Amino acid sequence: MPTVRDLQAMAGEEPITMLTAYDAVTASIVDDAGIDVILVGDSMGNAVLGYEDTLPVTLDEVASRVGAVARGADDALVVADMPFLSFGADEAESVENCGRMLKEEGANAVKLESGPHTVDLTERLADLGIPTMAHLGLTPQSVNQTGYTRQATDREEAEEIISLAREHEAAGAFALVLEHIPANLAEQVTEAVDIPTIGIGAGGDCDGQVLVFTDVVGLSERSPPFAEQFGDVRGEIEGAVGDYVDAVADGDFPGEEHSHTADELDDLY
Ligand code: KIV
Ligand code: NA
Repeated sequence: MPTVRDLQAMAGEEPITMLTAYDAVTASIVDDAGIDVILVGDSMGNAVLGYEDTLPVTLDEVASRVGAVARGADDALVVADMPFLSFGADEAESVENCGRMLKEEGANAVKLESGPHTVDLTERLADLGIPTMAHLGLTPQSVNQTGYTRQATDREEAEEIISLAREHEAAGAFALVLEHIPANLAEQVTEAVDIPTIGIGAGGDCDGQVLVFTDVVGLSERSPPFAEQFGDVRGEIEGAVGDYVDAVADGDFPGEEHSHTADELDDLY
């Protein structure tokens, strides 16, 4: 079973690869492809649940999909992304919600969109054996405050990110996602902390990279500017489903090889 220590040993030695997945079949494919970390992201809200943003995603929705991914993945570290308001307001409730992901669903760690309010919680979770991945820069659960624009483009905000990164490292976070911040800031954060940094829209100097599965394989209708499409799965699905529809409409499916008769059922009617 992978541990957060295995991941930390990779930092600075070889790039860490992380990708989201939201179901068992995708998790098994991603895992077989050799991804180090599978994030069951609350990006499932936009990516597969049909919401406009991540705010409506519930703890039960994430839990169900964490369970599916954990059952589908053999080697990757499975990280449960804690949804909006499932953590941060009340410590006991936060601990219970995070713990459920490991105890009931089979996650190896949780991720929290981070800020000053997650430092003490990160420490408490570490004390209890729940590894926490921090997340700074663009944190989409705060879209109503920040929009989706690049964050920390001035010195004051950049210094705040560096100090929050250090505070979360000191509190016991095992890794840090940096989303949509200037590449030269991500590079300095990576130097400032010993825990691995995993970037998304944060340049090439982080210890690893993460993207959303549906963006990478070409399944998303819209992708952020920093994503890259490495395949055309939407096109593949459209082709397969179109062929199926045509085959049924034309009477070509099912064929002889798909049909079975039972002799004693002749002459029933
Ligand atoms: O929900 C998600 O997919 C994420 C990653 C983009 C880091 O938080
Ligand atoms: Na997320």
